[in-house]
Amino acid sequence: MYIIGGTASKNTAEDLSKELKVPLANTISKRFPDDEFYLRIMDDISGEHVVIVQTTYPDPNIIELFILQNAAEEAGAKKITVVIPYFGYARQDTKFKEGEPISAKAMANLISLSADKVITVDPHKEYILDFFSTSAVSCSAIPELAKYLKEKEIDMVLAPDKGALERAKEASKIIKCNFDYMEKTRIDGETIEIKPKKLDAQNKNVAIIDDIISTGGTMAKSIQELKKHGAKNVFVACTHGLFAGGAIKKLTTAGCSEIISTDTIQSKFSKVKIAPAISPFLDK
Ligand code: R5P
Repeated sequence: MYIIGGTASKNTAEDLSKELKVPLANTISKRFPDDEFYLRIMDDISGEHVVIVQTTYPDPNIIELFILQNAAEEAGAKKITVVIPYFGYARQDTKFKEGEPISAKAMANLISLSADKVITVDPHKEYILDFFSTSAVSCSAIPELAKYLKEKEIDMVLAPDKGALERAKEASKIIKCNFDYMEKTRIDGETIEIKPKKLDAQNKNVAIIDDIISTGGTMAKSIQELKKHGAKNVFVACTHGLFAGGAIKKLTTAGCSEIISTDTIQSKFSKVKIAPAISPFLDK
């Protein structure tokens, strides 16, 4: 068995290699002058189970994954497992309007062409796993995020919308605290509304947990609501920290005490490693 880490997920590939005591395959890669990607696997992986780890965000990392999959196939890998810590395009999981694509399906179709198994982390909706024509499973980052938050003496976990409720509930069980949720309506990609609601947050340390922070709008509104209810410290935690545009400023201006994400997308807020959540799903 060999593990190969793509540019976007070298960290997780290394962590998995250490944890599972499986070697990392040596690769060389470069960009051609026209920016096309080149890769060569230097180890003999023929007849081996090859695990490719690559987040498919932003777009160049998608091409890199396809190139990695093809290189493994051409080199005669016996089995290819594709680990996608953050599966980009997962939120366009249906045709919201006529004429739109189901982008998550388009991605899944292509990835399935050279994969015997796909493992991803906290996809926005679980049903996107059915878009893959190969075996596809997901794992949850919540236990790892909750372990980190437990050290922060959290009194309540809050889901910013009903869709995130199960995750908040799961985290609250590990942290051993209360949980609640907000009622959110998305107006457009940048604007959301949160229905005012009575929250038992006075003087409390609250962690808001979501799958993704993109523009930060959802979290910022939730922080404001919690502050109105007298929360002492508000921690925001997510699996996938996209932090698009001015997200960080929005969160800090809203009064957040700490921003926490896993390293499915690497940033300075990647305080929680995702490899321990993925490793039990890899068949050695
Ligand atoms: C939506 O349902 C997701 O779970 C997140 O709440 C959303 O993607 C966050 O986006 P933003 O940070 O732009 O509000």
